[in-house]
Amino acid sequence: MVKVITYGTYDLLHYGHTRLLERAKALGDYLVVGVTADDFDKTRGKINVQQTLEERIAAVRATGLADEIIVEQYEGQKIDDIRRLDIDIFAIGSDWEGYFDYLNEYCNVHYLPRTEGVSSSQIRSETNALRLGLVGYSPFVNKFFDESKFVNAVDVVGVCTPEDGDLESLSDKVDVFTRDFDELLTAVDAIYIHSHPKDHYKQCKKALEAGKHVLCESPTGMTKEECQNLIKYAKDSGLVFMEAIRTAYITAYLRMLLLIKSSKIGKVISVDATCTSLTSTKSVGNNPRWSSLEAWGPTALLPVFQILGTDYSSKDIFVKNTEDGYNEFTKINFTYPEATATIKVGTGVKSESDLIISGTKGYIYVPAPWWKTDYFEIRYENPANNKRYFYQVDGEGIRYELVALADAVRGGCEDYYISRNVSEEIASIMN
Ligand code: CTP
Repeated sequence: MVKVITYGTYDLLHYGHTRLLERAKALGDYLVVGVTADDFDKTRGKINVQQTLEERIAAVRATGLADEIIVEQYEGQKIDDIRRLDIDIFAIGSDWEGYFDYLNEYCNVHYLPRTEGVSSSQIRSETNALRLGLVGYSPFVNKFFDESKFVNAVDVVGVCTPEDGDLESLSDKVDVFTRDFDELLTAVDAIYIHSHPKDHYKQCKKALEAGKHVLCESPTGMTKEECQNLIKYAKDSGLVFMEAIRTAYITAYLRMLLLIKSSKIGKVISVDATCTSLTSTKSVGNNPRWSSLEAWGPTALLPVFQILGTDYSSKDIFVKNTEDGYNEFTKINFTYPEATATIKVGTGVKSESDLIISGTKGYIYVPAPWWKTDYFEIRYENPANNKRYFYQVDGEGIRYELVALADAVRGGCEDYYISRNVSEEIASIMN
């Protein structure tokens, strides 16, 4: 019996996939199809996959062409599969020509001509692209624009920058380039806001009132009430309203939270988060400089509230201002009934910007800059038990935020990454 194996993501299964499977099957008597797991796709930069692994497997099964379906979960697995399953032929589309020649050592490698004119990427962008408008200043909006190119499900069609903004470099890349927020709103389905925090509330409100979904940098409002108003308005209007703190969308950070909730370090007693930079680069023209808390507060508060909750019993705040009244450093101590937390944020003061979470069995150490980490360590009394965790991070989390926005608009959960009470408490601290 000649055994053939092929691999793919098979998202939104299309004619090109079925043709490939038919031809692979025809090469032998028994066809094994490897369907890639979500995590594996993520590590190879494929972040736009819309269907779950179960849905993709079901679609491959429904073709009736696979004799066996397996899940591809790790780099190098193909060699293991070929040896384990005693495979004779490895078949794959010609878009991979040459790439899998190393498998010739284990079986025969066949590259089958790819079907022209169809791909999952194309189907995703044609059917679902969310017309997105960006509001804010350089360099953040430029970075966001560049990252949006990796996400099929969104299409940036317009940019709005205030009078003193400097985004001219984007003017010929989008349909609408404007100083007028209302004009931008007429051209989009959703809006991403990265303006000065003091402008967030009124811009979010305006966008929601215009019937647009919103992804807004944190804080969404400068008081808890403002944040609650926006959440309620969006809910009543059937619109997606999401808070953007990149860290919350990064795999390493998400996995770290799960390990903490799974009691890997025991009961958490202390969370200490530091975020500092020597300048607040988020200042343009006449726009007020971002204070230390505006620039870094939401990021530093995120692990505190996500790990210990928002029911602290007291807080005390140390603030250091420059002579001209600019707030360049803030330290907040939170006291919980059975735990404590500290955040230190600076835009004119430098410190080791790491994150330490102390528990009764061990602690987690995330090195600087922890907010865009791909790595963390769980450390125990006995160093032999320490564990290191590595995860891929692409685009500092911006891509994942955009994918999450598109998912939420399609009916996914909008507060999965940042729960509503965390958003509200962050806004309350800004106040
Ligand atoms: N394939 C093909 N013809 C197409 C599309 C895919 O022969 N038009 C083949 C690929 O070469 C691969 C298999 O189908 O062997 C699974 O490909 P996959 O990456 O899942 O599909 P794509 O449509 O290429 O997905 P994407 O656009 O996300 O890259």
